[in-house]
Amino acid sequence: MCYGTCSNHKLVMFLVLLSSFCLEFGHATDTIAAPNFIKDSETIISNDGEFILGFFSPVNSTYRYVGMWYAKVSASHVVWVANRDRPLKTSSGVLTISEDGNLVVLNEEKKIIWTSNVTNSVSNPSAQLLDSGNLVLKENNTGSILWESFQHPSDSVLPRMKMITDIKTGKNVRLTSWKRHSDPSVGAFFAASYLSNLPEMFIWNDSKPYWRSGPWNSQIFIGTPPMYSVYLNGFSLVDDKEGTFYFTYDISNKSMLLHYTLSSEGNLEEIRSINGKDWVVTWSSLVSECDIYGKCGAFGSCNSQNSPICSCLEGFEPKNMEEWNGRNWSSGCVRRTPLQCTRVNSTGGEEGQKDGFLRVKMMKTPDFANWSSTVEDECRYQCLENCSCIAYAYESGIGCMSWSSDLIDLQKFSTGGVDLYVRVAYSELDKKGELKVIITVTVVIGSVFVAICTFFLCQWMAKRKGGIYLKLHGEGNHLAVSMNKDKLEELPILSREELASATNNFDQSNKLGQGGFGPVYRGKLPDGQEVAVKRLARTSGQGLEEFMNEVVVISKLQHRNLVRLLGGCVEGEEKMLVYEYMPNKSLDTFLFDPVQRELLKWRKRFDIIEGIGRGLLYLHRDSRLRIIHRDLKASNILLDEELNPKISDFGLARIFGGNEDQANTKRVAGTYGYMSPEYAMQGRFSEKSDVFSFGVLLLEIVSGRRNASFYYDEQIASLLGFAWKMWETDNIAVLIDPVISEPCFKMEILRCIHVGLLCVQDFAKDRPSVHVAISMLKSEIIELPRPKQPVFTTIQVAPETECSNRIRIAGSVDNVTITTVYGR
Ligand SMILES: *[C@@H]1O[C@H](CO)[C@@H](O)[C@H](O)[C@H]1NC(C)=O
Ligand SMILES: *[C@@H]1O[C@H](CO)[C@@H](O)[C@H](O)[C@H]1NC(C)=O
Ligand SMILES: *[C@@H]1O[C@H](CO)[C@@H](O)[C@H](O)[C@H]1NC(C)=O
Ligand SMILES: *[C@@H]1O[C@H](CO)[C@@H](O)[C@H](O)[C@H]1NC(C)=O
Ligand SMILES: *[C@@H]1O[C@H](CO)[C@@H](O)[C@H](O)[C@H]1NC(C)=O
Ligand SMILES: *[C@@H]1O[C@H](CO)[C@@H](O)[C@H](O)[C@H]1NC(C)=O
Ligand SMILES: *[C@@H]1O[C@H](CO)[C@@H](O)[C@H](O)[C@H]1NC(C)=O
Ligand SMILES: *[C@@H]1O[C@H](CO)[C@@H](O)[C@H](O)[C@H]1NC(C)=O
Ligand SMILES: *[C@@H]1O[C@H](CO)[C@@H](O)[C@H](O)[C@H]1NC(C)=O
Repeated sequence: MCYGTCSNHKLVMFLVLLSSFCLEFGHATDTIAAPNFIKDSETIISNDGEFILGFFSPVNSTYRYVGMWYAKVSASHVVWVANRDRPLKTSSGVLTISEDGNLVVLNEEKKIIWTSNVTNSVSNPSAQLLDSGNLVLKENNTGSILWESFQHPSDSVLPRMKMITDIKTGKNVRLTSWKRHSDPSVGAFFAASYLSNLPEMFIWNDSKPYWRSGPWNSQIFIGTPPMYSVYLNGFSLVDDKEGTFYFTYDISNKSMLLHYTLSSEGNLEEIRSINGKDWVVTWSSLVSECDIYGKCGAFGSCNSQNSPICSCLEGFEPKNMEEWNGRNWSSGCVRRTPLQCTRVNSTGGEEGQKDGFLRVKMMKTPDFANWSSTVEDECRYQCLENCSCIAYAYESGIGCMSWSSDLIDLQKFSTGGVDLYVRVAYSELDKKGELKVIITVTVVIGSVFVAICTFFLCQWMAKRKGGIYLKLHGEGNHLAVSMNKDKLEELPILSREELASATNNFDQSNKLGQGGFGPVYRGKLPDGQEVAVKRLARTSGQGLEEFMNEVVVISKLQHRNLVRLLGGCVEGEEKMLVYEYMPNKSLDTFLFDPVQRELLKWRKRFDIIEGIGRGLLYLHRDSRLRIIHRDLKASNILLDEELNPKISDFGLARIFGGNEDQANTKRVAGTYGYMSPEYAMQGRFSEKSDVFSFGVLLLEIVSGRRNASFYYDEQIASLLGFAWKMWETDNIAVLIDPVISEPCFKMEILRCIHVGLLCVQDFAKDRPSVHVAISMLKSEIIELPRPKQPVFTTIQVAPETECSNRIRIAGSVDNVTITTVYGR
């Protein structure tokens, strides 16, 4: 009280003293220092002019508040409010630094209605509005920050603000919604980053969870339908390893303003303004009712495409049918058949068929996940062995997640999400409950029959192959596993003799080409199946067991845009891999052939581009191996009967892992014209080096010209150089292969070139990931950044003889084309 009156006197004095002073200097300042203040009609502006701090009234309100907003956007959107719970009733309030060194808002009676409330007072503090929109109170001398608005946000997150959570105390920086559009006082909703076992974003309605983002997989929040444009804005999770972590984001494009606001209805919205135009909402957390936390109760799954939106997971039924039918889903679902593992315990040892897992695809992961870093197979096993484990899921960017309490907040997506494996009793694995008895009987009889057949079949096969028959999952019997819908692959080991006879003793006439790892032959197995046999050059001191192990692992990679590995052979020094045979050879035999290229119309070419992208994405992200191809090029893209692309040679980099760097660099290294600068110069590779090669492929597919053998003039000796030149002169349409040039596709084709140029930028960090590149190609991301000039690759001179030799060696399945091209 005393304090209030004391400062009143002072302020009145200052008012008199400084009024003339203030008028003279105006208020183009970003700082309030001790004797200074701002009154209702005045503002302070950040140094770069982006943010304004001043007094405002919300729509439909006459109350005055001190707040902050963007200076350059016509319709202002207040991003921070000081005295949100105690409005000024008149326009005679002031903002100043109090005697005790706090930033304060005083009303017409000079009473403090808001304070930054810092206790340890310092001499001469000042408050500055930084360019980032952070209002900081700092000590004059040392500049140390006493208080900052970024740690006390209202309802908005600005770029570079940190949503910090202290893991030990659970304290966090939280957004709190306004009560209403017209009332900025603290509303019911708040949002913060949250760590149960995995970091997530949450919105609460009072103390009840209202929305959750799903865990962060180091690229996206996996429980949010894919909104890549959101994550493009430099989203990151930072764990400072000192007991706190935070989410933050940054925008590199200065012509775009973007922030996130928690609306008074509890909706987290991404709001952006481009070139000073009005704010537009470009993303929001609540798209459908399904996004509301726990909409369908325990074990209920929400699908916004269905009516009614809620359904029980397979093997579960509504807990209260009446309520459920009346669309009150809050009680959720319960298990139809008790689990064997709990049954055994309670009835004292009545054994039965073991429980299994039902796969539910494209799901939002339930809340309360437990996490472990084990690999996928181990994850399943751990869960199967522990009766309290109710479900598990494996996500390559996260690891193994398992659940031991009721599954809550489940949602089915139409894209994205994870495969959730839910534990159910054995009988639920066959869908029809009534047929249980019949099926059990059939299964028993069937099992015996199949087991006998399998036994004899194996014997026969083993004899036929003259070798071992490798089994991947040793444990469990064959039948039980296949009943669990788990596809098991068995990789046949073939003998050298057999492969020799299949390829007519590796006859030259059967040679399809020469790959980076050795020659490739066409062959026919005794059963008539056509195969391609890759005879690996002698390399690597890698042990037999390790080699086979790799082969087995790689044979598990299955994707329709990857060539299928059918078998392998190891005898002494000889190592061979057997692939499915692709009748249409490789992409380069079409693309760079004057006659064949006519067959590749634009639609087809775009399909090929997409297919390659998907295959690559699978290698990088979706397969648990995270394979970097390192030699992606037109001749490694094989085409099936329908000209669908299949990437080949994808596992070889891994099989030869590490070794080739030292011993065999020349042969195994990438191919001239497709190698990213960091790989070519320093031997460093990452997913982004594959993206580079993908970019080159994109440009080649669109233009029908080879990057490496391209020659325009002395300065421009590569397709990349030419593409850049044309881009700079705004003339990229000349790149388009005349064969595919159709006006109706022009935009799409130009977009491809643009994405191609983004992929071939010099710095790996500038290139998009494959996943983003695909979204760009499919126009899921509308605005594309401007590519930077690829300096390294565009100034290279034309390949000399030595180089072209090397290309031939490192070359492809089809030798002929290469020779003609380089015969120039
Ligand atoms: C302001 O008040 C008018 C009239 O009552 C109403 O139509 C309008 O929706 C209100 N605007 C806001 C933002 O609340
Ligand atoms: C200032 O902070 C103290 C404790 O830090 C708290 O008790 C007090 O209520 C706060 N005052 C205001 C006006 O926020
Ligand atoms: C801050 O300190 C400097 C010297 O350390 C002094 O010249 C200046 O007047 C001070 N500013 C305020 C607002 O007290
Ligand atoms: C938030 O919670 C309150 C009280 O629990 C409830 O009345 C209100 O409907 C909830 N709001 C929303 C949007 O669900
Ligand atoms: C839904 O069911 C729950 C549990 O029985 C009950 O508490 C709640 O009031 C019901 N809600 C409605 C809207 O009927
Ligand atoms: C299962 O049995 C073990 C020992 O027989 C006992 O310790 C445990 O509590 C039982 N669990 C349940 C869920 O009944
Ligand atoms: C699993 O997670 C729950 C909730 O997050 C936690 O209470 C429990 O202790 C965890 N269990 C294990 C084994 O980590
Ligand atoms: C089974 O899982 C529960 C909870 O996740 C855990 O507390 C328990 O230690 C596990 N038991 C074994 C044998 O791993
Ligand atoms: C920034 O965004 C604007 C609007 O979307 C776009 O026109 C511009 O090209 C972008 N600039 C950069 C450097 O990405």
